[in-house]
Amino acid sequence: PTAPSATFVIFGALGDLARRLLIPALVNLARADLLKEDLALVGVSHHDIDDEQLRAALDEGVEDDANWQWLRSRIRYLKGDFADPAMYQGLGRQLAGNAIFYLATAPTFFGTVVNQLGDAGLLTETDGFRRVVIEKPFGTDLVSAQALNRQILSRASESQIYRIDHFLGKETVQNIMVTRFGNTMMEAVWNNRYVDHVQITAAEAVTVGTRGRFYDATGALRDMVPNHLFQLLAMIAMEPPISFDADAIRTEKEKVIAAILPIDPAEAIRGRYCSGSVAGKAVPAYLDEPDVDPASRTETFAALKLHVETWRWSGVPFYLRTGKALATRDTEIVVQFRDVPLALFQETVVDRLPPNRLVVQIQPDEGISLEFVVKRPGLVVNTAPVAMDFRYRDHFDVGHQTGYETLLYDVQSGDQTLFQRAAQIEGGWRAVQPLLDLWTQGTPEDYAAGSAGPESADALMHRSHRRWHHLG
Ligand code: BG6
Repeated sequence: PTAPSATFVIFGALGDLARRLLIPALVNLARADLLKEDLALVGVSHHDIDDEQLRAALDEGVEDDANWQWLRSRIRYLKGDFADPAMYQGLGRQLAGNAIFYLATAPTFFGTVVNQLGDAGLLTETDGFRRVVIEKPFGTDLVSAQALNRQILSRASESQIYRIDHFLGKETVQNIMVTRFGNTMMEAVWNNRYVDHVQITAAEAVTVGTRGRFYDATGALRDMVPNHLFQLLAMIAMEPPISFDADAIRTEKEKVIAAILPIDPAEAIRGRYCSGSVAGKAVPAYLDEPDVDPASRTETFAALKLHVETWRWSGVPFYLRTGKALATRDTEIVVQFRDVPLALFQETVVDRLPPNRLVVQIQPDEGISLEFVVKRPGLVVNTAPVAMDFRYRDHFDVGHQTGYETLLYDVQSGDQTLFQRAAQIEGGWRAVQPLLDLWTQGTPEDYAAGSAGPESADALMHRSHRRWHHLG
C-alpha cells in the first residue's frame, strides 16, 4: 500500500546523505508507486540558495526520469539557521498535517533541532503525526548518548523518534530473522550446544578519503561496532519474539545487547592502516590522509571477542571485526558449528574434520551458504568440504536499491521495527565503554592497506585455536 501522505522536512538538504541516499530512495519509492500524490519535501539549510538551486543540486544523485521529475516538482527550500527560532516559525507556516523531520545534519545539531522543533510546537500531534528521524552517530559514548536521549525525550515521545541504523535497511539483514524463524532446521541447532562461535565482519576496502575530520574524531570502534555490528549481533542472537510487532522485536534485540558482558580490553585489538595498495591502487597511510591529526591515536580497524551471557549463548564467543583499507569489501556473519564428537573419517583420529559453517553474506553479492563435509569420490573414504549456496541474484530481481527505501517507507507508515529505542543505543555504548576509555591512550597497531588487518587480530583467534573466515 502507499504510505500515508506527509511532508518530509530534511535538515541538511545539501549534504551528502540527502543527495546520495535519501533522494534516490524516495525516487525508488515513487517508482514502486508507494508514495502518495500529495507528498511534499522541504529542504532546510543555511546556504543562500532558492528552490530551483536545491533541486539542481539534487539532480546529481538521481537518474532523470518521470519519477524524479515528479518528486523534484514537490521540493521547496527553506533557508535558515538551525538554532534560530524564527526559522521554525517559518517552517511551521508551511506545515499542515503529517510531517517527518529528518535530521541529516552534523550530529552536533541533533539536540538543537529537536529542542527548537519542540519549542515551536511543531512536534505536537494535533492534526497528524509528527516524527523525527535521527541519523548516527547517536552520541559518542554512553554519557553523551544518555544526555541526547534525555534531551530529545523532553520534547518528543519515544513513539515519535526514529533512530536510524542504516544496516537494518539491508535486505540480507532483515532476512536473518526470516531465515532463523521461518526454518525449523536453523533454530534447532542455534544455541551453545551446537554453535562453537560466531564471527561478524564488516570489512571495507575504502579508506577514510575525504572524511578525515569526522573519522579522526570517531574511529572504527565508534563508527561501526556499538551500532552496525551490534545490530547484526542482535539479529543473530535474539530470542524469537512473541509476534512480529515492532515492540516485541525491539524488546528481544535489546535483551541481547543488555546481555553483552563489558568487553575485556585484553580481548580487543585496534589497528591503523599504513601505506599499501587496495585492489591494485596505491593507498596512503592513514596519518597522511587529509584532515587527520599527525599525532592521531584513532584506529581504523577494531577486532574484539565478546560474550552474550544468556541461557542460549553462554560459553559461545562472538568475534567482531571491522576496518577500512582492507583487502576487499566483505560484510558477513559466520556461525561456526562445533566439531563432530569423533572424526571417524580421518586417517588419524586426532585430526579434525572441517567444521560446518553457515555464512550469511550481507554485502556484496548477498546470499547464504552452508559449508559441510562430503565423501570425496574414490576407493578410500576421504572427506571434502563443500557448500550449499544461495545467492539472492539467482532467485530474485534485486534491482538497484539504496537500503533507505524500507526505512523511509516505514517512517511514513509508522512502523518502528527497524529503528532503535533509547535503551538499545545506550546498551551498545555501555558494552564498548571500557574500550573507549582505554583507547584514549597508546596507539593502534599498524597494518598494510590492502591486507586483512593487523596480526594481533589473527592472534586473538589463534589463542583459542580458531581462525577468521577469509575475506571476500
Ligand atoms: C557508516 C559509517 O555508518 O557506515 C561509514 O560511518 C561506513 O564509515 C558505512 O563506511 C558502511 O556502510 P555500508 O552500507 O557501505 O556498509
